Amino acid sequence: MSPAMAVMTVENEESQYQNGVKRLYENGISKVPSKYVLPVLERPSITKQQQANIPQNNLKLPIIDFQELQGPNRAQVLQSLANACENFGFFQLVNHGIRSDVVSNMIQVGTEFFDLPFEERAKYMSSDMRAPVRYGTSFNQTKDKVFCWRDFLKLICHPLPDVLPHWPSSPVDMRNLAATYAKETKHLFLMLMEAIFETLGLVDSSAAKKNMTEEDEVLKEFENGSQLMVVNCYPPCPEPDLTLGMPPHSDYGFLTLLLQDEVEGLQIQFQDKWVTVDPISNSFVVNIGDHLEIFSNGKYKSVLHRVLVNSRKNRISVASLHSLPFMRSVGPSPKLVDESNPRRYKETNFASFLEYISSREPKKKNFLESRKLT
Ligand code: OGA
Ligand code: NI
Repeated sequence: MSPAMAVMTVENEESQYQNGVKRLYENGISKVPSKYVLPVLERPSITKQQQANIPQNNLKLPIIDFQELQGPNRAQVLQSLANACENFGFFQLVNHGIRSDVVSNMIQVGTEFFDLPFEERAKYMSSDMRAPVRYGTSFNQTKDKVFCWRDFLKLICHPLPDVLPHWPSSPVDMRNLAATYAKETKHLFLMLMEAIFETLGLVDSSAAKKNMTEEDEVLKEFENGSQLMVVNCYPPCPEPDLTLGMPPHSDYGFLTLLLQDEVEGLQIQFQDKWVTVDPISNSFVVNIGDHLEIFSNGKYKSVLHRVLVNSRKNRISVASLHSLPFMRSVGPSPKLVDESNPRRYKETNFASFLEYISSREPKKKNFLESRKLT
């Protein structure tokens, strides 16, 4: 082969990977290309039981009943919530009040999007991190040395009237269904933040709300906060023990509300081990992001998580990430800093996070580490 030919081949191969794993899967590959093969120490150790789809002793995450939180048992539920935030960084939210058709429609329309012809999906490919809609693959496809086995559709959700006209026009009901879903999860997020502020001792729902405190102001700011929805697609993978759907990472915002279909795959780091989170139908997996770790001055930690893939089933998940307004700085809440508990983090905002991740290969909790005061 002439040198020019060799370069051509490499380029074609590279663009094939840039086009995503759904496309690879549709082209019927039987082995994982080396682009996706992780160094041995970073590979998941998939047990024989997992391979045979035998139910595992998976981690039972704390379960928070949203309806109960709004009722006479609020104080008790707040206790469980505080415990979940402090000791797990993750919980499952049940009885969340979002209609089941809103949830199933979101999964359905997300699935349909990835079933569109590749050319249709490819219209939304963009390297602009701030584009209102962005279709792509891997974790950070311009930086990752090893690619992961995931394609995604990212939708910026705020301000909705501005971004909606940019969202995919096909499947036909995508905009409508995804917008409804975005509004409902936003509402849930606001209610959860109020409860979490209470667990941090920052607001007291029983106090007469005559004087707006600084914390009430922050809660109000969330109403205009940033929201990003990520529809993740993990096609079946011929050799799931060589790669990951998503590498270990933490989420950047205050909270992520994750909807997973019935196929397991999400693992979180718990007591230095990777444990699988059982999907519970009609629930959300909620986790603490970096911004809440910073805001709580380290009381609540954002926890590393990753995604396993499997050889049998396609898996779809929808993550909704919420934070304060895009340019708003986040620092430790003054009420959570004192002499015995000194300030542990520098200020940050979403814009600086984007700058950080576009400038290097994202690894684990590196961004948060860069915000720590030593
Ligand atoms: C994410 C994420 C997990 C999943 O989108 O940040 O961690 O199960 N997703 O898809
Ligand atoms: Ni995540």
